[in-house]
Amino acid sequence: MTAPARTHTTTAGIIRAEEPVLAHNYHPLPVVLAHGEGTWVEDVEGRRYLDMLAGYSALNFGHRHPALIEAAHRQLDRLTLTSRAFHHDRLAAFAASLAELTGLDTVLPMNTGAEAVESAVKVARKWAYDVKGVPEDRATIVVAADNFHGRTTTIVGFSTDPVARTGFGPFAPGFRVVPYNDLAAMEAAVDETTAAVLIEPIQGEAGVIIPDEGYLTGVRELTRRAGALFLADEIQSGLGRTGRTLAVEHERVLPDVLLLGKALGGGIVPVSAVVARREVLGVLHPGEHGSTFGGNPLAAAVGSAVVDLLATGEFQRRAAELGVVLRDGLTELVGRGVTGFRARGLWAGVDVDPALGTGREIGERLLAEGVLVKDTHGSTIRLAPPLTITADELRWALAALERVLT
Ligand SMILES: Cc1ncc(COP(=O)(O)O)c(C=O)c1O
Repeated sequence: MTAPARTHTTTAGIIRAEEPVLAHNYHPLPVVLAHGEGTWVEDVEGRRYLDMLAGYSALNFGHRHPALIEAAHRQLDRLTLTSRAFHHDRLAAFAASLAELTGLDTVLPMNTGAEAVESAVKVARKWAYDVKGVPEDRATIVVAADNFHGRTTTIVGFSTDPVARTGFGPFAPGFRVVPYNDLAAMEAAVDETTAAVLIEPIQGEAGVIIPDEGYLTGVRELTRRAGALFLADEIQSGLGRTGRTLAVEHERVLPDVLLLGKALGGGIVPVSAVVARREVLGVLHPGEHGSTFGGNPLAAAVGSAVVDLLATGEFQRRAAELGVVLRDGLTELVGRGVTGFRARGLWAGVDVDPALGTGREIGERLLAEGVLVKDTHGSTIRLAPPLTITADELRWALAALERVLT
């Protein structure tokens, strides 16, 4: 028998209480948050922090954006879940507005990012058999090294990160891994069995890796020539983060299939989606795919409110304008603790001189300065504040980074 749960109120007490009862699949920074508003969060002891991670871009609109909270409250008072056994009165409007925002036609609503990716893998394979004429069970999907698309067994099976993969096999066959940002390698991997190419337009977890200008255009042309689908995972890069609605817009490229998640749920509920041309998602028929929670009324109401915010263009504009402040601030730090950085919009991967500490250690020092960030690999930290951040807040965070590095 386990002891009855006790209520802890201090940072140390709560962290200690988690230890025996939670799986240890995360190593969070030692802070216990209890409240959030806009770009700021507060811990259980009343200390305030500027959130420079924004839930890995799930909080693009900040904590508890009033329009999103209002949409959620209104829906909570009406209808929350139906399952897709029945229609409900919020889904059509959500799907129509999301299709219009992205320039595609049709939406398959899911919940988490990994589910959207899994769904796209299924759709691409079915499309290969039904439309392209690939012999049954022979379809292949070309992916990029250093990808991050989620944590299911199929997805980690084509990860190149040993920590994500090791111990979780056997893995699903049918994936070919090529170096990122290498069109020649991709071309060599594509053949008549290729259902799709799946890439992140900017690789987030890998350290905000931005491909060369022309790469996304090249992938678009290559897949079109090969009669394969272009699947763009914009779960982290999309919905305003890079200064455009979608990161692929920086090259004016429209993929066949877009994967969205994170910010689509407004930081309130998990909402993801596969958005595609009609003939692609048209390969799915009743019973072939589904999700109890996918497209539920609460998710659709919040998702619609998210699309309404993005339709104004304000957040994309803020990300582009403040991205200049971020870039300028980081440029000043190069050679002064920062060895290099990659940035687009309000998103940056910052390589810190390893002599100054690991990314984790820098994160801990920034925590003490009242700034929340998370490391990616080694000595790289990622900055991805809410798109609602002000220029002064951004400069304040950069000044804190300067203090911990110098
Ligand atoms: C590009 C990308 N795809 C997929 C995922 C998986 O999303 P989720 O954690 O909601 O399953 C993530 C999460 O970080 C991501 O960054």
